[in-house]
Amino acid sequence: MADTVIRNATIIDGTGADRFVGDVTIDDGHITEVGVTSSSATTEIDATGLVLAPGFVDVHTHDDGALLQHPDMEFKVSQGCTSVVVGNCGFSAIPAVPGEHTLDLSGVQANWNDLDGYRESVENSKPAVNAMMLVGHNTIRSLEMGGERRAPTDPELERMCRHVELAMQQGACGLSTGLIYRPGKWSDTEEVLELAKVVAPFDGIYATHMRNENDHLLEAVDEALEIGAKAGVAVQISHHKAAGRRNWGKVKDSLAKVDAAVADGAQVTLDVYPYTAGSGPMIQYFDIDDPNPELAKAIQLASCPAFRTYEGRMLVDIAEELGISAPEAVRHILTAPEGKSTICIQHTMDEGDVVSNLRHDRVMIGSDGIPDLTGKPHPRLFGTFPRVLGRYVREQSVLELERAIRRMTSLSCDVHGLQGRGRITEGNWADLVLFDPNLILDIATYEDPKRESAGIQSVWVNGQMAFTEGLHTQVGAGKVLSYRQH
Ligand code: ZN
Ligand code: CU
Repeated sequence: MADTVIRNATIIDGTGADRFVGDVTIDDGHITEVGVTSSSATTEIDATGLVLAPGFVDVHTHDDGALLQHPDMEFKVSQGCTSVVVGNCGFSAIPAVPGEHTLDLSGVQANWNDLDGYRESVENSKPAVNAMMLVGHNTIRSLEMGGERRAPTDPELERMCRHVELAMQQGACGLSTGLIYRPGKWSDTEEVLELAKVVAPFDGIYATHMRNENDHLLEAVDEALEIGAKAGVAVQISHHKAAGRRNWGKVKDSLAKVDAAVADGAQVTLDVYPYTAGSGPMIQYFDIDDPNPELAKAIQLASCPAFRTYEGRMLVDIAEELGISAPEAVRHILTAPEGKSTICIQHTMDEGDVVSNLRHDRVMIGSDGIPDLTGKPHPRLFGTFPRVLGRYVREQSVLELERAIRRMTSLSCDVHGLQGRGRITEGNWADLVLFDPNLILDIATYEDPKRESAGIQSVWVNGQMAFTEGLHTQVGAGKVLSYRQH
């Protein structure tokens, strides 16, 4: 007797192939039958009218700490996600110094040094979803050089390379950079290239939050492609966008650059979140001595420990109330006690660029959500995947359902080395999502962001039900995965 049979589902297998109606059997964590099943099972589910797909993979997350702090991962499971890639934008929970705070966006207290130790801690916390690690350049640079604005010495660079190598040996999928952030922005192309070369023997990837995403977007794409070509590694361009009104539309030019590089033999893929606003640590976007007034006007406060009443509000409205300019309001917030922990939202992007990204076959879906649940986080944390399937697939017909799912599943797993996942096929791990294609939609908004999505019926992780009909089962079957290992 099998564990579970899901009958009469509309199966979208993750490869991009057309849907078909059939049954799927789950036993001992794996998919054991697809199509017509003869098995009976402990749990029988009638999925008539519902779509069964591989569980979605959120390829761009900052969930390194959340897997420990919020092991139920409600904001991910409730959108149908069964795996997350952590360590993005150059910030990862490894390496770390035991007893100290991690140098990622969560700053949790570490009781590990490396990926093996992190894996043990996370698996002990029984997270609801699986995780794959990228090792972050900002983190290793901070560890070896502090915040110093200079090139590394040879011994420093050597030690940074050894951190990357150890992470790869322990199952990371690659190196990430955040070249817009301190201290990554103090590095030159050569430094990053040396680190990317360490990834090459493992056939890992180079994932990059590029040096520029506005006026110099195209030059930044050139740098990413150069690093990939010279190091001999695949490139993943993170949260592809063109910020600032005068740059709107440029996403088409950078996608054309990617297409040209691919035609020349490069391996390049990208990710996008389906919103026209970004989000991140506010201190990273402003020079405190001279805050950019144009950017200040586009800012909304997500998490603001210094002034909780500001959360969810536009900075310009706060400035007006205080009778000061927007740049002065930036200083007022960032220089307050705990001001440096402020997370902001920047409304700087174009809807047309989001659509261009979603139409492109090499663009996968990644939320870039920041799991700080105390304030009003960017709604992408709870809404990304249902928003793509509801708003862009069903309502606007920007892309077909099968194509969208491929770029949430098999493509994501192939590039990030989630072996035996991302496709509904016999022998694969049973990471699955069952949803109603007529109802699926994001509910989270900028005003009310911590809302679970509509239309997700059930979610299985490693064969165990993690979520059903709005209920989180708290089973905690997630694992920290190793690159290309089953
Ligand atoms: Zn980023
Ligand atoms: Cu990010």
